[in-house]
Amino acid sequence: MKIINIENPFKNAEIYYKSVTDSTMNDARSLILDNPESGTVVFAGEQLSGRGRIPGRKWYGGKDLSLMFTLLFKEKDIQFYKTLFPLFAGYCIMSCLKNCFSIESRVKWPNDVLVGGKKISGVLCENTDSYILCGCGINLNQRDFPRFDIDNAEDSKKQQTVSKKAVSIYQITGKNTAPEEILIKLLKEFKYSIVSLKWKALLEKNLYLKDKYAVVDNGIPGKSKKIKGFIEGIGDYGQLFVREERGLLHEVYSGEINFD
Ligand code: BTN
Repeated sequence: MKIINIENPFKNAEIYYKSVTDSTMNDARSLILDNPESGTVVFAGEQLSGRGRIPGRKWYGGKDLSLMFTLLFKEKDIQFYKTLFPLFAGYCIMSCLKNCFSIESRVKWPNDVLVGGKKISGVLCENTDSYILCGCGINLNQRDFPRFDIDNAEDSKKQQTVSKKAVSIYQITGKNTAPEEILIKLLKEFKYSIVSLKWKALLEKNLYLKDKYAVVDNGIPGKSKKIKGFIEGIGDYGQLFVREERGLLHEVYSGEINFD
């Protein structure tokens, strides 16, 4: 892993780069023994086994097609519960898309950023005793998304078609984006917003399906339950508030939102 000479807005924190890696999550984990500063980043040009939040779901990132990095943060350096971090990262990505590309996006609980209902970014957070490892993938320069990659299509003999579930910055703006260029702008959003909890109200305002009726699958393996109700907001631990029509409020700690 080499240290690259681009300015990290987080003081004394390095930015490491690997042209090809299996997953930046593993690379970031290997740095922890050296007690890295909060804001340390590992980013990759290409990932061969990029992980998604749901086991088995992968993040496909061909060479310089997406921004793929893991940000390390010491738990003691944040002022909110670590379980809020994926939503905080989603908020920073949403702000960066708006400020840098005039792209309107929404954060889909618990870990996606969508533009026009299509996924532009995903976040995967893992924890150690003292660190949060926040992995972010942002679609940058893809011209299209093969359906097998995105939709986990099972029948590999079926003709490969283009997925309509994902979108890239190129598809929206018609311009290529250099990964390191957006990385620095995004790190500035993290640095600017992490000092207080002001971001949380803005996130709730821009939550995907806010105040809309949706089905939330609570994702508990073996005990999966569908909760139907209005998406109300986010709690201090990152839980989703869903209110049933008859008034009952549910707090959902993990799972997935779908339309009714
Ligand atoms: C998801 O959509 O479920 C989360 C995707 C997270 C992908 C990023 S890419 C950089 C980092 N390294 C990984 O292996 N995964 C995350």
